Amino acid sequence: MRLDHALRDDHQALEVTFERVLRRFHGGDSEAIRTAWLALDEELEAHLKAEERFILPEFAKSFPVEAQRIERDHQRIRAALVELGIDLDLHLLREHAAERFVQTLREHAQYEDEVFYAWAETSLSERAQHAAIAHLRAAGGSTAAEEPTRGPAAEHLHA
Ligand SMILES: [Fe+2]
Ligand SMILES: [Fe+2]
Repeated sequence: MRLDHALRDDHQALEVTFERVLRRFHGGDSEAIRTAWLALDEELEAHLKAEERFILPEFAKSFPVEAQRIERDHQRIRAALVELGIDLDLHLLREHAAERFVQTLREHAQYEDEVFYAWAETSLSERAQHAAIAHLRAAGGSTAAEEPTRGPAAEHLHA
């Protein structure tokens, strides 16, 4: 599998997982919400780490400004994840906060798609590409079986 495809697939899977969280949230079963949330947290962290560990350091040598932007985005995403997790725990999640989070993820995904992923596919060493793909696969497999169908919003990302 190509690394840029794996990364884009991962973005779509993350959005699907987030939609599952929202559905569970509306369902009101706190245990189900927590399970879905932990899956999102885990998948998202694995995705960010794969990018930071295997791709960004090399990318930064050629494109330091763009790499900084991606790192800043990751910090924002992690901060939002913590904030939303607290809101979920307290059952205070607001729809607009959830939407803002999805929007942040989408903007970040689009930026990466444009400047980062094509570079990763063509310029990153094969070894680093394999390592990144293995990392993404190891993290992404756990929840895919739970709900194989994808929600409509997934199609908005990297259409
Ligand atoms: Fe990223
Ligand atoms: Fe990404």
